[in-house]
Amino acid sequence: MTPFLSGPRVYFRPYDEKDARQVFVWFNDPEVTHFMFTGQKPATQKQITDLMNHDKSSGHNVIFIAVDKETDAPLGVVGLYEINETAKKAEMRIIIGNKDFWGKGYGTEITEMITFYGFDRLNMHRVYLGFTEANQAATKAYSKAGFEHEGVLRDDIYRNSSYYNTVRMGILRDDYYKRLHSEHKAKYSLESQLA
Ligand SMILES: CC(C)(COP(=O)(O)OP(=O)(O)OC[C@H]1O[C@@H](n2cnc3c(N)ncnc32)[C@H](O)[C@@H]1OP(=O)(O)O)[C@@H](O)C(=O)NCCC(=O)NCCS
Repeated sequence: MTPFLSGPRVYFRPYDEKDARQVFVWFNDPEVTHFMFTGQKPATQKQITDLMNHDKSSGHNVIFIAVDKETDAPLGVVGLYEINETAKKAEMRIIIGNKDFWGKGYGTEITEMITFYGFDRLNMHRVYLGFTEANQAATKAYSKAGFEHEGVLRDDIYRNSSYYNTVRMGILRDDYYKRLHSEHKAKYSLESQLA
């Protein structure tokens, strides 16, 4: 299948029901979900299949499986959720469930790709995200991908015997086009890849 969107090391393809088994394993892995709201309760295969089908079929979400180009290994799920056509905003969510690929720059590339997709293809005005403050990999990956700190929600999540603050980050369209679009276009647009 031709990739939907491609970067130097990663490509995106649509989520397919065949991926449900893999997503079930990722979403029930306590290391993967350590900092996340997802994973507080175990989920059955049927619940995950239903959740993914629901998320995928909603007109307010666009969901991809991110894949390693070199090995064709599925890396995780990434998407734009709660797409609001009036405010032209969307929430980016990412989960790299394949732990072999953590800490190697994939999270940064995937974050850049989904952001590029949101602005360049979906004409978003604002792309935002949230994560647990203690999640250092997330903090660094999103900052490197160009997201700006917008605020902190105190004691927003309870996990692992503790309350955690969560952080909100975002990028606005004007800022994206000033700071990031030409660099991302060179890496992620089909025109640049065919040139
Ligand atoms: C959070 C996540 C997307 C980050 O992706 P990643 O591929 O591991 O991150 P990257 O390799 O792009 O790392 C970006 C930076 O964070 C650093 N980093 C990675 N893991 C780290 C860790 N555990 N502690 C501290 N820094 C870390 C990297 O070294 C890199 O910094 P550098 O360029 O200065 O060296 C990914 O680890 C993940 O999906 N984890 C599980 C689910 C999750 O937490 N999702 C986010 C919920 S909002």
